[in-house]
Amino acid sequence: MRLQPAFMFLVGSLPIISAQNVTLIDPLTRFGNMTLTIPPQGFPVLQSSFQVPPDCGETSYRGTGRLRGLRTLITGGDSGIGRATVIAFLREGAQVAINYLPIEESDAQDLAESLQSEGLSIERIPGNLLNETFCTHLVHEAARRLGGLDILIGNAGYAGPQFGRNWQPITNHSTAQLERVFRTNIFANFFLTRTAVPLLPRGGSIIFTTSGQAQGPNERMVDYGASKAALSHIIHSFARQLAPRGIRVNGVAPGLTYSPFLATAGFTNEMISTGLRETPPPFGRIEQPAELAPLFVSLADPSGTYISGNVYSATGATSFP
Ligand SMILES: *[C@@H]1O[C@H](CO)[C@@H](O)[C@H](O)[C@H]1NC(C)=O
Ligand SMILES: *[C@@H]1O[C@H](CO)[C@@H](O)[C@H](O)[C@H]1NC(C)=O
Ligand SMILES: *[C@@H]1O[C@H](CO)[C@@H](O)[C@H](O)[C@H]1NC(C)=O
Ligand SMILES: *[C@@H]1O[C@H](CO)[C@@H](O)[C@H](O)[C@H]1NC(C)=O
Repeated sequence: MRLQPAFMFLVGSLPIISAQNVTLIDPLTRFGNMTLTIPPQGFPVLQSSFQVPPDCGETSYRGTGRLRGLRTLITGGDSGIGRATVIAFLREGAQVAINYLPIEESDAQDLAESLQSEGLSIERIPGNLLNETFCTHLVHEAARRLGGLDILIGNAGYAGPQFGRNWQPITNHSTAQLERVFRTNIFANFFLTRTAVPLLPRGGSIIFTTSGQAQGPNERMVDYGASKAALSHIIHSFARQLAPRGIRVNGVAPGLTYSPFLATAGFTNEMISTGLRETPPPFGRIEQPAELAPLFVSLADPSGTYISGNVYSATGATSFP
C-alpha cells in the first residue's frame, strides 16, 4: 500500500486548540496514598455516600474539542465510570443526556450542579432499564432533547451482592438475581441498541462497558461474568451487523474500579486492602473512574473509523485481561 503524502498538508491546516503543553502523569503517584472509604453494601449505592469520593476527573480532565457537538446518551451516568465519561464528553464538547435510577436523583443533581459552575449542562432522564418500554422511551427522549443521537453508551450494569454476606453458591443461586443481572447487562443494552440504530447517522458509534470478568472469571461472579462475556460477544456481532450502516461498536473493560459498583457488588475496604497487600497490583492500587474516560472518548472520536468490534481494557498491567 502506498501512503499518500496528502496528510502533511492536512496536519498543517489543523486548528491548534491549546498552546499549553501536556503534563505527564505518573500512574504510581497520581492519586497519592489512595484512601478507600467504600460505603456499606446495598443497592443502589450513591456516589455521595463515599467519604472520599471516586475520582471522576473533576479537576483533571482537559478537553480539546474531540467530540464537539456530538449528541450522546450515557446510561449509569450519575456516578462512577459513567460520571467520569460524562465529564470527559462534555469537556470534549459533546451534548450529553444521562440515565440513572430515580432513587439516584441526588447524585445526578450533584453532577449537574458541579457542571453548571463551568457552564456545562446535561439532560437528565431517570428511569429503570429493567423496563423494556422505558428503554425505548429513553432513547427517543434523549434524541428528542438533544436534537438527534450520534453516540450510545450502555454503561449501567448490575452485579448483585456477589462478594457480600448474601452471596449464594449455585445450589441456592436465586432466579431473581440471575434474571436481574441478565436483564440489566444484556436485555437493556439490546433494547437500547434496537431503538438507537435507526436513529444513528453514519459514523455514529455504540460503546458498552464490559468487564475484565468476561475473560478472567471469578468463581463468585458467575452470572455477572457470564453476562459481561455475552456482552463482549454481542459487541463483535453487532459491529459486524452494523458495519454496512457505518456504525461502529466497541467495549471498554474496566479492572477493579473505585466506584459505587464496588459497594453494590459487596466489596469492602477490608477485602480490597487485603487483596492489595497479598497480591499487590503493578501500580499498587485499584483503578479510578477518571482513568477509563479517555478510552470512551477515543472510541467515540469520529476519526477512529476502523476501530470497531473490539473490547479495550484498562487494567493497570495486572495479569487479568
Ligand atoms: C512546550 O514544550 C516544548 C518542548 O517540548 C518547549 O520548547 C515549549 O517552550 C513548551 N511550550 C510551553 C508553552 O510551555
Ligand atoms: C497510606 O495511608 C494509610 C492510612 O493513612 C497508612 O496506614 C499507610 O501506611 C499509608 N501507606 C503508604 C504506602 O504510605
Ligand atoms: C415502564 O416504562 C414506561 C415508559 O416510561 C412507563 O410508562 C411504565 O409505567 C413503566 N412500567 C413500570 C412497571 O414501571
Ligand atoms: C438461599 O437463598 C434464600 C434467598 O434467596 C435465603 O433465604 C436462604 O437462607 C438461602 N439458603 C441458604 C442455605 O443459604
